Amino acid sequence: MNADLVVVGSGLFGLTIAEQAATELGLKVALLDRRSHIGGNAYSEKEEKTGIEVHRYGAHLFHTSNERVWEYVNRFTQFTNYVHRVYTRHNDEVFPMPINLGTINQFFRSAYSPQEARDLIKEQAGELAGTDPENLNDKGIQLIGRPLYEAFIKHYTGKQWQTDPKDLPASIINRLPVRYTYDNRYFSDTHEGLPVDGYTAWLERMADHPNIDVRLDTDFFDDSHEFSRSKVLGQVPVVYTGPVDRYFDFAEGDLSWRTIDLEEEVLPIEDFQGCSVMNYPDEGVPFTRIHEFRHFHPERDYTKDATVIMREFSRFADKGDEPYYPINTDLDRQKLLKYRDLARGEKSVLFGGRLGTYKYLDMHMAIGSALSMFDNKIKPHFQGGAKLE
Ligand code: FDA
Repeated sequence: MNADLVVVGSGLFGLTIAEQAATELGLKVALLDRRSHIGGNAYSEKEEKTGIEVHRYGAHLFHTSNERVWEYVNRFTQFTNYVHRVYTRHNDEVFPMPINLGTINQFFRSAYSPQEARDLIKEQAGELAGTDPENLNDKGIQLIGRPLYEAFIKHYTGKQWQTDPKDLPASIINRLPVRYTYDNRYFSDTHEGLPVDGYTAWLERMADHPNIDVRLDTDFFDDSHEFSRSKVLGQVPVVYTGPVDRYFDFAEGDLSWRTIDLEEEVLPIEDFQGCSVMNYPDEGVPFTRIHEFRHFHPERDYTKDATVIMREFSRFADKGDEPYYPINTDLDRQKLLKYRDLARGEKSVLFGGRLGTYKYLDMHMAIGSALSMFDNKIKPHFQGGAKLE
Protein backbone atom coordinates (compact mmCIF):
# COMPACT_ATOMS: atom_id res chain seq x y z
CA MET A 1 0.00 0.00 0.00
CA ASN A 2 1.42 3.33 -1.00
CA ALA A 3 0.64 5.39 2.12
CA ASP A 4 2.15 5.93 5.57
CA LEU A 5 -1.05 7.44 6.92
CA VAL A 6 -4.70 7.23 5.83
CA VAL A 7 -6.90 10.24 6.64
CA VAL A 8 -10.66 9.69 6.31
CA GLY A 9 -12.47 12.95 5.57
CA SER A 10 -11.06 16.03 3.84
CA GLY A 11 -12.78 18.66 6.02
CA LEU A 12 -10.60 21.17 7.82
CA PHE A 13 -9.63 18.60 10.46
CA GLY A 14 -8.50 15.98 7.95
CA LEU A 15 -6.85 18.56 5.68
CA THR A 16 -4.80 19.97 8.56
CA ILE A 17 -3.59 16.49 9.59
CA ALA A 18 -2.75 15.56 5.99
CA GLU A 19 -0.94 18.84 5.31
CA GLN A 20 1.13 18.66 8.50
CA ALA A 21 2.01 14.99 8.03
CA ALA A 22 3.16 15.61 4.46
CA THR A 23 4.99 18.90 5.07
CA GLU A 24 6.49 18.36 8.52
CA LEU A 25 7.20 14.63 8.42
CA GLY A 26 7.41 13.90 4.70
CA LEU A 27 4.79 11.16 5.07
CA LYS A 28 2.79 9.80 2.17
CA VAL A 29 -0.83 10.47 2.98
CA ALA A 30 -3.98 9.02 1.40
CA LEU A 31 -6.76 11.57 2.00
CA LEU A 32 -10.19 10.03 1.37
CA ASP A 33 -13.57 11.67 1.05
CA ARG A 34 -16.84 10.10 0.13
CA ARG A 35 -18.02 13.39 -1.38
CA SER A 36 -16.98 14.52 -4.85
CA HIS A 37 -15.08 17.54 -3.49
CA ILE A 38 -12.62 18.34 -0.72
CA GLY A 39 -13.16 20.69 2.21
CA GLY A 40 -16.03 19.07 4.09
CA ASN A 41 -18.68 21.54 5.13
CA ALA A 42 -16.50 24.58 4.49
CA TYR A 43 -16.65 23.91 0.72
CA SER A 44 -17.96 26.69 -1.52
CA GLU A 45 -18.44 27.14 -5.25
CA LYS A 46 -19.57 29.75 -7.74
CA GLU A 47 -23.25 29.79 -8.49
CA GLU A 48 -23.47 29.00 -12.23
CA LYS A 49 -25.43 31.96 -13.61
CA THR A 50 -24.11 34.76 -11.42
CA GLY A 51 -20.59 33.67 -10.43
CA ILE A 52 -21.45 34.55 -6.82
CA GLU A 53 -19.62 32.36 -4.29
CA VAL A 54 -22.10 30.18 -2.41
CA HIS A 55 -21.27 28.21 0.74
CA ARG A 56 -22.78 24.83 -0.14
CA TYR A 57 -23.33 23.59 3.42
CA GLY A 58 -24.49 26.81 5.06
CA ALA A 59 -22.77 30.14 5.68
CA HIS A 60 -19.17 29.88 6.93
CA LEU A 61 -17.54 32.86 8.66
CA PHE A 62 -13.96 32.52 9.74
CA HIS A 63 -13.02 33.99 13.13
CA THR A 64 -10.44 33.12 15.78
CA SER A 65 -8.50 34.46 18.73
CA ASN A 66 -6.04 31.56 18.54
CA GLU A 67 -2.76 33.07 17.24
CA ARG A 68 -1.34 29.73 16.23
CA VAL A 69 -4.41 28.91 14.12
CA TRP A 70 -4.40 32.40 12.59
CA GLU A 71 -0.72 32.09 11.60
CA TYR A 72 -1.40 28.60 10.21
CA VAL A 73 -4.40 29.51 8.04
CA ASN A 74 -2.57 32.56 6.66
CA ARG A 75 -0.05 30.19 5.07
CA PHE A 76 -2.78 29.17 2.63
CA THR A 77 -4.95 32.22 2.13
CA GLN A 78 -5.29 35.91 2.84
CA PHE A 79 -8.48 37.11 4.50
CA THR A 80 -10.71 40.04 3.61
CA ASN A 81 -11.66 42.57 6.29
CA TYR A 82 -15.30 41.35 6.32
CA VAL A 83 -16.97 41.86 9.70
CA HIS A 84 -20.06 39.75 10.32
CA ARG A 85 -23.27 41.50 11.39
CA VAL A 86 -26.69 39.90 11.62
CA TYR A 87 -30.15 41.47 11.51
CA THR A 88 -33.49 40.02 12.49
CA ARG A 89 -36.95 40.67 11.06
CA HIS A 90 -39.67 40.62 13.70
CA ASN A 91 -43.26 41.75 12.95
CA ASP A 92 -42.09 43.38 9.71
CA GLU A 93 -39.49 45.47 11.47
CA VAL A 94 -35.72 44.92 11.25
CA PHE A 95 -33.56 44.94 14.39
CA PRO A 96 -29.80 44.46 14.92
CA MET A 97 -28.57 41.23 16.53
CA PRO A 98 -27.23 40.00 18.90
CA ILE A 99 -29.54 41.92 21.23
CA ASN A 100 -27.79 45.20 21.99
CA LEU A 101 -28.69 48.72 23.09
CA GLY A 102 -29.86 49.50 19.55
CA THR A 103 -32.22 46.48 19.58
CA ILE A 104 -33.55 47.39 23.03
CA ASN A 105 -34.19 51.05 22.26
CA GLN A 106 -35.84 50.25 18.94
CA PHE A 107 -37.99 47.51 20.49
CA PHE A 108 -39.17 49.62 23.44
CA ARG A 109 -39.35 52.86 21.38
CA SER A 110 -37.05 54.59 23.83
CA ALA A 111 -33.62 56.13 24.33
CA TYR A 112 -32.38 54.23 27.38
CA SER A 113 -28.83 54.76 28.58
CA PRO A 114 -26.80 51.57 29.16
CA GLN A 115 -27.66 51.62 32.89
CA GLU A 116 -31.36 52.30 32.29
CA ALA A 117 -31.48 49.39 29.85
CA ARG A 118 -29.73 47.11 32.35
CA ASP A 119 -32.25 48.08 35.03
CA LEU A 120 -35.17 47.45 32.67
CA ILE A 121 -33.97 43.97 31.61
CA LYS A 122 -33.22 43.09 35.23
CA GLU A 123 -36.71 44.09 36.22
CA GLN A 124 -38.29 42.10 33.37
CA ALA A 125 -36.12 39.04 34.06
CA GLY A 126 -37.23 39.32 37.70
CA GLU A 127 -40.51 37.64 36.74
CA LEU A 128 -38.85 34.26 37.38
CA ALA A 129 -36.07 35.39 39.75
CA GLY A 130 -35.05 32.85 42.38
CA THR A 131 -36.58 29.90 40.50
CA ASP A 132 -34.59 27.06 38.95
CA PRO A 133 -36.05 26.77 35.43
CA GLU A 134 -36.38 23.27 34.06
CA ASN A 135 -37.32 24.20 30.53
CA LEU A 136 -35.76 26.49 27.96
CA ASN A 137 -38.75 28.81 27.86
CA ASP A 138 -38.52 29.70 31.56
CA LYS A 139 -34.73 29.93 31.37
CA GLY A 140 -34.99 32.40 28.49
CA ILE A 141 -37.44 34.57 30.41
CA GLN A 142 -35.20 34.44 33.47
CA LEU A 143 -32.17 35.51 31.45
CA ILE A 144 -33.52 38.44 29.42
CA GLY A 145 -37.17 38.98 30.42
CA ARG A 146 -40.32 37.91 28.59
CA PRO A 147 -40.69 40.69 25.94
CA LEU A 148 -37.27 40.31 24.30
CA TYR A 149 -37.25 36.53 24.75
CA GLU A 150 -40.64 36.07 23.12
CA ALA A 151 -39.83 38.40 20.21
CA PHE A 152 -36.36 37.21 19.26
CA ILE A 153 -35.57 33.84 20.85
CA LYS A 154 -38.67 31.76 21.58
CA HIS A 155 -39.92 30.86 18.11
CA TYR A 156 -36.47 31.00 16.51
CA THR A 157 -35.29 28.33 18.96
CA GLY A 158 -38.57 26.44 18.53
CA LYS A 159 -37.98 26.34 14.77
CA GLN A 160 -34.35 25.26 15.19
CA TRP A 161 -35.40 22.33 17.36
CA GLN A 162 -38.87 21.65 15.91
CA THR A 163 -39.96 21.62 19.53
CA ASP A 164 -41.83 24.05 21.76
CA PRO A 165 -39.15 25.61 24.04
CA LYS A 166 -41.37 24.60 26.99
CA ASP A 167 -40.49 21.01 26.09
CA LEU A 168 -36.75 21.64 25.64
CA PRO A 169 -34.31 21.26 28.55
CA ALA A 170 -33.08 24.51 30.13
CA SER A 171 -29.51 23.20 29.75
CA ILE A 172 -29.49 24.05 26.01
CA ILE A 173 -28.73 27.68 26.91
CA ASN A 174 -26.48 28.95 29.66
CA ARG A 175 -26.65 32.58 28.68
CA LEU A 176 -28.29 34.82 26.11
CA PRO A 177 -25.87 37.60 25.32
CA VAL A 178 -27.24 41.14 25.70
CA ARG A 179 -24.89 44.02 24.98
CA TYR A 180 -25.49 47.33 26.65
CA THR A 181 -23.65 49.21 23.90
CA TYR A 182 -24.47 49.76 20.23
CA ASP A 183 -21.79 47.24 19.20
CA ASN A 184 -23.47 44.77 16.85
CA ARG A 185 -20.42 42.83 15.68
CA TYR A 186 -21.49 39.21 15.71
CA PHE A 187 -18.09 37.79 16.75
CA SER A 188 -15.72 39.27 19.28
CA ASP A 189 -12.59 37.37 18.22
CA THR A 190 -9.24 39.07 17.51
CA HIS A 191 -9.24 37.92 13.88
CA GLU A 192 -12.11 37.73 11.45
CA GLY A 193 -12.52 37.66 7.68
CA LEU A 194 -13.30 35.58 4.61
CA PRO A 195 -10.75 33.92 2.33
CA VAL A 196 -9.91 36.45 -0.40
CA ASP A 197 -10.24 34.03 -3.29
CA GLY A 198 -12.85 31.79 -1.72
CA TYR A 199 -12.95 28.76 0.58
CA THR A 200 -12.22 26.19 -2.08
CA ALA A 201 -8.99 27.88 -3.23
CA TRP A 202 -7.84 27.89 0.41
CA LEU A 203 -8.78 24.24 0.99
CA GLU A 204 -7.18 23.10 -2.28
CA ARG A 205 -3.90 24.80 -1.36
CA MET A 206 -3.81 22.81 1.87
CA ALA A 207 -4.06 19.56 -0.09
CA ASP A 208 -1.64 20.67 -2.81
CA HIS A 209 1.42 18.61 -1.87
CA PRO A 210 3.06 15.83 -3.91
CA ASN A 211 2.81 13.47 -0.92
CA ILE A 212 -0.95 13.92 -0.52
CA ASP A 213 -3.00 11.53 -2.63
CA VAL A 214 -6.59 12.88 -2.62
CA ARG A 215 -9.22 10.22 -3.34
CA LEU A 216 -12.70 11.69 -3.83
CA ASP A 217 -15.94 9.69 -4.12
CA THR A 218 -14.19 7.17 -1.91
CA ASP A 219 -15.98 5.82 1.15
CA PHE A 220 -13.75 4.30 3.82
CA PHE A 221 -16.30 1.52 4.37
CA ASP A 222 -16.53 0.57 0.71
CA ASP A 223 -14.30 -2.46 0.17
CA SER A 224 -13.72 -1.88 -3.51
CA HIS A 225 -10.65 0.35 -3.12
CA GLU A 226 -7.16 -0.13 -1.67
CA PHE A 227 -7.64 2.24 1.32
CA SER A 228 -10.87 0.71 2.68
CA ARG A 229 -11.24 -0.06 6.37
CA SER A 230 -10.87 -3.79 5.83
CA LYS A 231 -7.60 -3.33 3.92
CA VAL A 232 -5.82 -0.66 5.97
CA LEU A 233 -6.74 -1.50 9.56
CA GLY A 234 -3.67 -2.72 11.43
CA GLN A 235 -1.49 -2.05 8.37
CA VAL A 236 -1.17 1.71 8.59
CA PRO A 237 -2.28 4.41 11.08
CA VAL A 238 -5.66 5.98 10.32
CA VAL A 239 -7.12 9.37 11.30
CA TYR A 240 -10.89 9.02 11.04
CA THR A 241 -13.09 12.15 10.90
CA GLY A 242 -16.39 10.54 9.83
CA PRO A 243 -19.28 9.83 12.25
CA VAL A 244 -18.07 7.80 15.23
CA ASP A 245 -21.29 5.73 15.45
CA ARG A 246 -20.95 4.75 11.76
CA TYR A 247 -17.39 3.52 12.38
CA PHE A 248 -18.68 0.99 14.91
CA ASP A 249 -21.65 0.02 12.71
CA PHE A 250 -24.03 1.78 15.15
CA ALA A 251 -23.35 -0.94 17.74
CA GLU A 252 -24.38 1.33 20.62
CA GLY A 253 -27.21 2.99 18.68
CA ASP A 254 -27.43 6.11 16.52
CA LEU A 255 -26.24 9.45 17.89
CA SER A 256 -28.82 12.16 17.16
CA TRP A 257 -28.15 15.23 15.03
CA ARG A 258 -29.96 18.25 13.69
CA THR A 259 -29.65 18.98 10.02
CA ILE A 260 -30.58 21.93 7.81
CA ASP A 261 -32.28 22.17 4.42
CA LEU A 262 -31.05 24.98 2.20
CA GLU A 263 -33.25 26.39 -0.55
CA GLU A 264 -31.33 28.45 -3.06
CA GLU A 265 -32.89 31.05 -5.33
CA VAL A 266 -31.42 33.38 -7.92
CA LEU A 267 -33.36 36.65 -8.06
CA PRO A 268 -33.20 39.12 -10.98
CA ILE A 269 -32.38 42.07 -8.72
CA GLU A 270 -29.14 43.57 -7.46
CA ASP A 271 -29.83 43.38 -3.74
CA PHE A 272 -32.52 41.46 -1.83
CA GLN A 273 -31.98 42.32 1.83
CA GLY A 274 -28.98 44.65 2.13
CA CYS A 275 -27.02 42.32 4.44
CA SER A 276 -25.57 38.82 4.42
CA VAL A 277 -27.79 37.22 7.08
CA MET A 278 -31.34 38.08 8.14
CA ASN A 279 -32.93 36.02 10.92
CA TYR A 280 -36.67 35.29 10.92
CA PRO A 281 -37.67 34.75 14.57
CA ASP A 282 -41.46 34.83 14.05
CA GLU A 283 -43.66 31.77 14.39
CA GLY A 284 -45.51 32.08 11.06
CA VAL A 285 -42.35 31.93 8.92
CA PRO A 286 -41.10 28.36 8.35
CA PHE A 287 -37.41 29.17 7.78
CA THR A 288 -34.93 30.43 10.39
CA ARG A 289 -32.85 32.78 8.24
CA ILE A 290 -31.96 33.97 4.76
CA HIS A 291 -28.37 34.29 3.53
CA GLU A 292 -27.55 36.61 0.65
CA PHE A 293 -24.11 35.66 -0.57
CA ARG A 294 -23.07 38.80 -2.45
CA HIS A 295 -22.79 40.63 0.88
CA PHE A 296 -20.02 38.34 2.12
CA HIS A 297 -17.76 39.91 -0.52
CA PRO A 298 -18.62 43.58 -1.02
CA GLU A 299 -15.10 44.01 -2.45
CA ARG A 300 -15.89 41.78 -5.44
CA ASP A 301 -17.22 43.04 -8.71
CA TYR A 302 -20.33 40.84 -8.77
CA THR A 303 -23.07 41.27 -11.38
CA LYS A 304 -25.71 43.90 -10.60
CA ASP A 305 -28.34 41.97 -12.57
CA ALA A 306 -28.91 39.16 -10.09
CA THR A 307 -28.39 38.00 -6.53
CA VAL A 308 -28.32 34.59 -4.81
CA ILE A 309 -30.28 33.95 -1.62
CA MET A 310 -30.60 30.82 0.49
CA ARG A 311 -33.40 30.09 2.92
CA GLU A 312 -32.39 27.88 5.85
CA PHE A 313 -34.79 25.37 7.44
CA SER A 314 -33.80 23.40 10.50
CA ARG A 315 -34.93 19.87 11.47
CA PHE A 316 -33.94 16.59 13.11
CA ALA A 317 -31.68 14.48 10.89
CA ASP A 318 -32.90 11.12 9.63
CA LYS A 319 -30.57 8.36 8.47
CA GLY A 320 -29.02 9.53 5.22
CA ASP A 321 -29.29 13.25 6.05
CA GLU A 322 -26.17 15.35 6.56
CA PRO A 323 -25.42 15.42 10.31
CA TYR A 324 -24.81 19.08 11.22
CA TYR A 325 -25.33 19.87 14.91
CA PRO A 326 -25.07 17.26 17.71
CA ILE A 327 -28.28 17.19 19.77
CA ASN A 328 -26.53 15.82 22.83
CA THR A 329 -29.43 14.39 24.85
CA ASP A 330 -28.65 12.42 28.02
CA LEU A 331 -29.05 9.24 25.97
CA ASP A 332 -26.62 10.57 23.33
CA ARG A 333 -24.07 11.26 26.04
CA GLN A 334 -24.40 7.71 27.40
CA LYS A 335 -23.92 6.28 23.91
CA LEU A 336 -20.97 8.59 23.27
CA LEU A 337 -19.17 7.29 26.39
CA LYS A 338 -19.56 3.76 25.07
CA TYR A 339 -18.28 4.79 21.64
CA ARG A 340 -15.30 6.47 23.29
CA ASP A 341 -14.47 3.20 25.07
CA LEU A 342 -14.69 1.35 21.76
CA ALA A 343 -12.51 4.02 20.11
CA ARG A 344 -9.82 3.55 22.77
CA GLY A 345 -9.70 -0.11 21.75
CA GLU A 346 -8.84 0.78 18.14
CA LYS A 347 -5.10 1.01 18.61
CA SER A 348 -4.13 2.22 15.14
CA VAL A 349 -7.02 4.70 14.66
CA LEU A 350 -7.35 8.27 15.94
CA PHE A 351 -10.84 9.83 15.96
CA GLY A 352 -11.11 13.56 15.35
CA GLY A 353 -13.17 16.42 13.99
CA ARG A 354 -16.82 17.32 14.34
CA LEU A 355 -18.26 13.92 13.37
CA GLY A 356 -15.53 11.77 14.89
CA THR A 357 -15.94 13.36 18.34
CA TYR A 358 -19.69 14.21 18.15
CA LYS A 359 -18.96 17.80 19.06
CA TYR A 360 -19.82 21.04 17.24
CA LEU A 361 -16.53 22.67 16.24
CA ASP A 362 -16.07 25.99 14.54
CA MET A 363 -13.44 25.97 11.79
CA HIS A 364 -10.71 27.43 13.97
CA MET A 365 -11.47 24.82 16.65
CA ALA A 366 -11.28 21.97 14.14
CA ILE A 367 -7.92 23.27 12.88
CA GLY A 368 -6.60 23.90 16.42
CA SER A 369 -7.63 20.45 17.54
CA ALA A 370 -6.02 18.83 14.47
CA LEU A 371 -2.75 20.72 15.11
CA SER A 372 -2.78 19.40 18.70
CA MET A 373 -3.43 15.84 17.54
CA PHE A 374 -0.56 16.15 15.10
CA ASP A 375 1.86 17.50 17.75
CA ASN A 376 0.83 15.20 20.58
CA LYS A 377 0.11 11.91 18.85
CA ILE A 378 1.11 11.69 15.21
CA LYS A 379 4.53 13.33 15.39
CA PRO A 380 5.70 11.37 18.48
CA HIS A 381 4.46 8.14 16.84
CA PHE A 382 6.33 8.62 13.58
CA GLN A 383 9.43 10.28 15.03
CA GLY A 384 9.92 8.35 18.24
CA GLY A 385 7.84 5.21 17.84
CA ALA A 386 5.36 6.23 20.55
CA LYS A 387 2.05 4.37 20.58
CA LEU A 388 -0.65 6.13 18.59
CA GLU A 389 -3.41 6.04 21.24
P1 FDA B 1 -16.41 18.18 8.10
O1 FDA B 1 -17.81 17.72 8.30
O2 FDA B 1 -16.20 19.50 7.47
O3 FDA B 1 -15.64 17.09 7.22
C1 FDA B 1 -15.80 15.70 7.41
C2 FDA B 1 -15.58 15.03 6.06
O4 FDA B 1 -15.53 13.61 6.26
C3 FDA B 1 -16.70 15.29 5.07
O5 FDA B 1 -16.17 15.85 3.89
C4 FDA B 1 -17.28 13.90 4.82
O6 FDA B 1 -17.72 13.72 3.49
C5 FDA B 1 -16.11 13.00 5.14
N1 FDA B 1 -16.49 11.63 5.49
C6 FDA B 1 -17.39 11.26 6.44
N2 FDA B 1 -17.51 9.91 6.45
C7 FDA B 1 -16.66 9.44 5.51
C8 FDA B 1 -16.35 8.13 5.03
N3 FDA B 1 -16.94 7.04 5.54
N4 FDA B 1 -15.44 8.00 4.05
C9 FDA B 1 -14.85 9.09 3.50
N5 FDA B 1 -15.13 10.36 3.91
C10 FDA B 1 -16.01 10.52 4.89
N6 FDA B 1 -17.52 27.13 11.46
C11 FDA B 1 -17.07 28.41 11.56
O7 FDA B 1 -15.95 28.63 12.04
N7 FDA B 1 -17.85 29.45 11.11
C12 FDA B 1 -19.08 29.26 10.56
O8 FDA B 1 -19.75 30.23 10.19
C13 FDA B 1 -19.57 27.93 10.46
N8 FDA B 1 -20.79 27.68 9.93
C14 FDA B 1 -21.27 26.39 9.91
C15 FDA B 1 -22.54 26.14 9.41
C16 FDA B 1 -23.04 24.84 9.42
C17 FDA B 1 -24.42 24.57 8.90
C18 FDA B 1 -22.26 23.76 9.94
C19 FDA B 1 -22.79 22.37 10.02
C20 FDA B 1 -20.98 24.01 10.40
C21 FDA B 1 -20.47 25.32 10.39
N9 FDA B 1 -19.20 25.58 10.84
C22 FDA B 1 -18.75 26.88 10.92
C23 FDA B 1 -18.35 24.49 11.32
C24 FDA B 1 -17.39 23.94 10.27
O9 FDA B 1 -18.11 23.43 9.18
C25 FDA B 1 -16.57 22.86 10.98
O10 FDA B 1 -15.56 23.46 11.71
C26 FDA B 1 -15.95 21.89 10.08
O11 FDA B 1 -16.99 21.21 9.42
C27 FDA B 1 -15.15 20.90 10.87
O12 FDA B 1 -14.38 20.20 10.02
P2 FDA B 1 -14.32 18.62 10.10
O13 FDA B 1 -13.17 18.27 9.24
O14 FDA B 1 -14.30 18.14 11.49
O15 FDA B 1 -15.72 18.09 9.52
